[in-house]
Amino acid sequence: MRPLLIDCDPGIDDMVALLLACASPEVELLGVSTVAGNVGLEFTTRNALDVLALAGRPDVPVAAGAERPLVVDGLAAHRGAHGDSGLGGARLPSSPAGAVDAHAVPFLAEAIRGASAPVTLVAVGPLTNVALLYALYPEVAASLGRLVVMGGAIGAGNITPAAEFNVWADPEAAYRVLSAPGLSRVVPTTMVGLDVTLRTLIGVAEAARLRSAGGAGAVVADAIAEYVHGAPGDGGVPMHDAVAVAEAVRPGLLECRPCRIEVDHGFGPGRGNTLVDFGGVGASVAVGADYAAVAAFVLGRIV
Ligand code: BDR
Ligand code: CA
Repeated sequence: MRPLLIDCDPGIDDMVALLLACASPEVELLGVSTVAGNVGLEFTTRNALDVLALAGRPDVPVAAGAERPLVVDGLAAHRGAHGDSGLGGARLPSSPAGAVDAHAVPFLAEAIRGASAPVTLVAVGPLTNVALLYALYPEVAASLGRLVVMGGAIGAGNITPAAEFNVWADPEAAYRVLSAPGLSRVVPTTMVGLDVTLRTLIGVAEAARLRSAGGAGAVVADAIAEYVHGAPGDGGVPMHDAVAVAEAVRPGLLECRPCRIEVDHGFGPGRGNTLVDFGGVGASVAVGADYAAVAAFVLGRIV
């Protein structure tokens, strides 16, 4: 079992990602850290705890991390896509567990240091905690086996024409993790962007199957209920973060190509853009997949 850590901002698709990790025998989920993103930190932390309890893993430690991005806090004005609570229409029982008494950044460092094998870290929210980990614990971060990031896009963004939400939410952090000289070239890093995540969907038929399965599947169906409609041409709800976890669980599930990634952290209209240079090296980016197979893999594990 490969040791796994997830840094997240649940978030409906973060919930699916956590459920997938908990249901995957290939990995051992050592812990979860939370960051402000889809909703505020208090909500992302509570949601992570409740989802882990739903998955039957209330023992997985959760540590709360950054409450705001490194430089510019523009998050609050752009929240809402995941509902007020972060989990859409789902109402989860409140887990009796609370977050551990440590900030996410030293928590991640300790977990990486203490693991019996190189850890895969999957980051599916703004990259604030990971950037702080790289800044404060560079030797520990350098021992990571792999970093898989849900964020960015080769093509168009989803929050501005240039930027995907997680990168847009903290471009300075994304720059440090994906582009800056040093650790971004040392840690094997894979960017799983909108180019693949927007094609891996929970459609009407899949939502119905989740609902009839009951348990965690029905909770996911509740969460996305207001987003999945039967209108012609409506493909469904993207599973963004779960696609990144799927690649961490089954390396090679996605087609990835070597590249170099530049993050625009200037203050113009391109802020948060990820420029992918296929002539460069240092990272890899997901460029394709058998999308139906990836969706079936994820959903097959959570029902
Ligand atoms: C990313 O943004 C968030 O809203 C999702 O949870 C996902 O991590 C997709 O752009
Ligand atoms: Ca997320």
